[in-house]
Amino acid sequence: MRFAFMLLRDFRNYPYLEIEIPPGASLFMGLNAQGKTNLLEACYYVSCLSSPRAERESDLASWGKNSFSLAARLEDSDSVTTVKIDTVTTPSVRRKIQINDRHVTRQDLLALFPCVYFSPDDLYIIKGSSGLRRKFLDSILSRQDPVYARLLPRYNDTVSRRNMALKKASFDDSWAKTLETLDELVISLGSRLLYKRLGLVEVLSAFTRSTYKFIAGGDCSVTYTSTVGEILPDLAGIKSRFQGKLQEVKAEELTRGVTLTGPHRDDLLVSYDSKSFRYFGSQGQQRSVVLALKMAEARCLEQSFKTRPVILLDDVFSELDPEKRSKVLSLCDFGYQVLITSTELPKHTGPKFSLFRVENNSVYPWGAGKSE
Ligand SMILES: Nc1ncnc2c1ncn2[C@@H]1O[C@H](COP(=O)(O)OP(=O)(O)O)[C@@H](O)[C@H]1O
Ligand SMILES: [Mg+2]
Repeated sequence: MRFAFMLLRDFRNYPYLEIEIPPGASLFMGLNAQGKTNLLEACYYVSCLSSPRAERESDLASWGKNSFSLAARLEDSDSVTTVKIDTVTTPSVRRKIQINDRHVTRQDLLALFPCVYFSPDDLYIIKGSSGLRRKFLDSILSRQDPVYARLLPRYNDTVSRRNMALKKASFDDSWAKTLETLDELVISLGSRLLYKRLGLVEVLSAFTRSTYKFIAGGDCSVTYTSTVGEILPDLAGIKSRFQGKLQEVKAEELTRGVTLTGPHRDDLLVSYDSKSFRYFGSQGQQRSVVLALKMAEARCLEQSFKTRPVILLDDVFSELDPEKRSKVLSLCDFGYQVLITSTELPKHTGPKFSLFRVENNSVYPWGAGKSE
């Protein structure tokens, strides 16, 4: 799937914008604070009704407005689909969503096509704390699998309730029964999350490996490390391992009043030669491996959606060396649409891209072309 046309009304700094977007790679160039990121954010919103950076929906409406509209024409090799979204942001969020002029639900839109958004902050998937790596996995799984999207908040809520029960139970025996019920719930919900995460990591790992080889020429591995212990993708096995571990750490949990084991404490180890990129990777290696992870995300989503995601690269192009830029652009040869923002024209002689200028709350075609 690709964007062929976008319309933005009262979205961020755009009072009104219409833009035709060609297939392949498009580069949106402009000075700071002209609306480059906002444009990619609008594309992302059309695919999943959320923003990669806004905390609240009301941040997306232009200042002084309480609603915004987005419309897109999406093209595939053999189909054209129109999407229209009208969102009222205050006092509460209300949306009208249409696909091909028919009113549809949020779920219908989410099932249509995926986008992959890549920004410089994604380097923290490698460099940052384990929470960011869990978020990376959770966001892919929630996008692919509506069951996972429902299970995750239920699990997190159960962990919070269990933490509270642990605190009470440490001095009040009447809480023992509640704690027991919550133990069971944490294990049953958590095991299902773990099972799905292991399934994803298996596919993600293979794709990351091949993409990293393509980008950087080296080897890498991606493995899921669980606080529950060593687990295999077998639901019954995961459950009994989780049960055992919970018993093992229960005394300490009662003292500390927190749930110490489960998917909310796990990590993703991205390594080469069994050395973690987080601690031993050079800046260049870290950039390459995070790019490989994002491309692997694209391939995982492509597999589950049966359509190619649109790749949105915000401000990351200038950080890549010319060879890696060419490799990113060569994604277009595999049928991906890639929308790139940059403050400067990258010097490279590789694949072609269409050029746009982002200025004064507007986007102008610069004339399709190839630099140098
Ligand atoms: N809700 C909003 N309404 C109006 N303008 C906004 C809103 N949110 C952000 N902006 C402004 O949009 C401008 C462009 O932002 P952005 O797309 O992040 O720029 P860049 O081109 O550097 O990526 C900024 O000046 C920002 O202050
Ligand atoms: Mg920006």
